Amino acid sequence: MLELQDIHTYYGASYVLQGVSLQVNEGEAVALLGRNGVGKTTTIRSIIGFTPPRQGQILLRGVQLTRLSAATISRLGVGLVPQGRRIFPNLTVRENLTVAARNARNVGGISNPEGGWTLPKVYHYFPRLQERQKNMGNDLSGGEQQMLAIGRALMTNPQLLLMDEPSEGLAPLVVREIGGTIRQLKEAGLSILLVEQNLKLAFEICDRIYIMNKGRIIFKGSSSDLQADTTLMHQHLGV
Ligand SMILES: Nc1ncnc2c1ncn2[C@@H]1O[C@H](COP(=O)(O)OP(=O)(O)OP(=O)(O)O)[C@@H](O)[C@H]1O
Ligand SMILES: [Mg+2]
Repeated sequence: MLELQDIHTYYGASYVLQGVSLQVNEGEAVALLGRNGVGKTTTIRSIIGFTPPRQGQILLRGVQLTRLSAATISRLGVGLVPQGRRIFPNLTVRENLTVAARNARNVGGISNPEGGWTLPKVYHYFPRLQERQKNMGNDLSGGEQQMLAIGRALMTNPQLLLMDEPSEGLAPLVVREIGGTIRQLKEAGLSILLVEQNLKLAFEICDRIYIMNKGRIIFKGSSSDLQADTTLMHQHLGV
């Protein structure tokens, strides 16, 4: 589904991603872990086209994304659930969702035929959003905002969902609930790249794990491989 081949990404003169390679297979959920500031969000920004890599390749089902605009990459089936959620505070829940769908369709005048996400389908996965559909974005709890951020990404009909720390700042019970829904989305066939600092959540959802440090991938393996390596867990994940 997704392949990053030795990508190098900069912010101006600041050299952040120093040769990152990773893969997400079709229908797979993969975690990208690591401490603060190691380059997780920059990896996501590189994929979605906000901060394109200066070197290396990114392929989505064999299609080169590296020189495409963020709008085109989105239309090709990459959905983003950004860190900090970034929902529209002055639109209702329903408007947040429909605006995303409209924007997705407006890109190049064609919609991604796969997925077929609609309001009722989003409400099926997140009944709470239906209950709150007339509430403003800024009138939601953190958990509801996160559900809305995920729902909004789904309305663009992604094949690959990039999720940047969906559990950040949420109470354990809410994390469990959202984690359950992410697992259902995976079981429905969506491919997922999950950036997390919540290891329990990553282990529950993901088939494979990558760990980053200082702009490089320093571990790649199954969750059981990782859990067996206490030194690595301690050094790079602080547990
Ligand atoms: N817009 C930017 N301009 C310049 N430097 C940036 C910018 N965004 C991030 N950086 C730097 O790039 C490095 C990687 O940041 P990034 O946001 O990718 O880390 P992260 O792993 O997502 O961290 P966190 O877990 O805190 O979200 C950090 O040193 C950060 O200070
Ligand atoms: Mg980040």
